[in-house]
Amino acid sequence: MLASEPVARHSAFVPFPADVPTLTDGVVTLRAHRPSDAPRVVEQCADPLTQRWTTVPSPYDDAAAAAFLGDVVPYAWASATAAYFAIEHDGRFAGTIDLRSTGVGEAEVGFGLHPDARGRGVARRALTLALDWGYAERDLAVVTWRAQVGNWASRRAAWSVGFAFGPTVPGMLDQRGERRDAWIGWLTRTDDRGPRTRWLSPPALEGGGVRLRPWRDTDGDRLVEAALDPVLRAALPRAPLPRTADEVAGYLLRVGLGAANGDRVAWCVADAATDVALGNAAVFGFEDGSAEVGFWSHPAGRGRGAMTAALGLVTAHALAGAEADGLGVRRLDLLTAATNRGARGLAERAGFTLVGVERATSPTRDGDWDDTARYELLG
Ligand SMILES: CC(C)(COP(=O)(O)OP(=O)(O)OC[C@H]1O[C@@H](n2cnc3c(N)ncnc32)[C@H](O)[C@@H]1OP(=O)(O)O)[C@@H](O)C(=O)NCCC(=O)NCCS
Repeated sequence: MLASEPVARHSAFVPFPADVPTLTDGVVTLRAHRPSDAPRVVEQCADPLTQRWTTVPSPYDDAAAAAFLGDVVPYAWASATAAYFAIEHDGRFAGTIDLRSTGVGEAEVGFGLHPDARGRGVARRALTLALDWGYAERDLAVVTWRAQVGNWASRRAAWSVGFAFGPTVPGMLDQRGERRDAWIGWLTRTDDRGPRTRWLSPPALEGGGVRLRPWRDTDGDRLVEAALDPVLRAALPRAPLPRTADEVAGYLLRVGLGAANGDRVAWCVADAATDVALGNAAVFGFEDGSAEVGFWSHPAGRGRGAMTAALGLVTAHALAGAEADGLGVRRLDLLTAATNRGARGLAERAGFTLVGVERATSPTRDGDWDDTARYELLG
């Protein structure tokens, strides 16, 4: 587009509030904002999550709500630059969703809920209503979504209605004067409205003295200790573990994204009594009903049967069908350097069968290649 061309706008100019449509699925209703929404708009926008993840004024007060309801929303409808809907649920104002025109046939969606409306599927319903309207009545071809990296609730709402996600864009968003990295997503008019990937949240698995649970930021010290452990570095020289406390958040984010994209599910293998991290177990590389299982131990987690117990729990979960809340994998691979006696013994105790030894495929720490022992386990 040439810089001198006008900003693309919605095709219709709508007198507010008279011609703002009311859209409902019987549970959630989208309607024009009302002056009486003001107190709950203030509660929603002063809430810490809204302050953290959106660009609403900070601090948020009655004057900010008055400006939003009296100026921003009516002007956006009248100028056709954006369509703002109040979200109503349980007979009261539950939040706002908007479609902002970003070009001919394209808009960006934004949404936020009052704290007492969260966790009840309201965002998914509101998104569905707004998207249906945008594609049908505003002739949109594509709707985009952007969120600050780490806004999992927003990502999950977008994921649930079928958004596809691109790479993280560094510094794309301005948050009150600071640049923040952004997740981006898109949904075209003809896309299916449902999750494109499995979101592999690791379920808690317990037995044999260990509890498998999601990794948390409080496990940061143990992750760094594992990363710096010479035994682990020799066995897995390419493991992308955090080597400093500053790298922990980025590592956990990558773990979360692997799960959210359906690529990889990883558990912290914790001591069942103390909840202290002893190691990691993961399932990844899903293809045609096969997947690979991987693991490593913190130095304090070795020699106590923790990983044997963990591998048993993970393989059972991976091979169980969806009806048993399993991953529905029919075949598991386990690969380890042929010289790694500990890992090979573990594989054999867990019931894996040696398929063969591949030559020169396991990277060593000094840049050389070891042979790889390949094991398999069929469900
Ligand atoms: C974004 C928002 C509207 C989502 O509303 P919601 O869908 O009711 O939110 P929920 O609290 O139910 O969270 C949605 C899902 O994300 C999941 N989730 C929340 N935090 C998570 C985290 N840290 N990691 C992984 N998943 C997480 C929830 O478990 C929930 O899953 P479910 O759909 O299976 O129940 C709401 O959180 C909000 O108003 N946030 C502040 C404003 C905002 O961030 N707007 C979006 C700007 S891009």
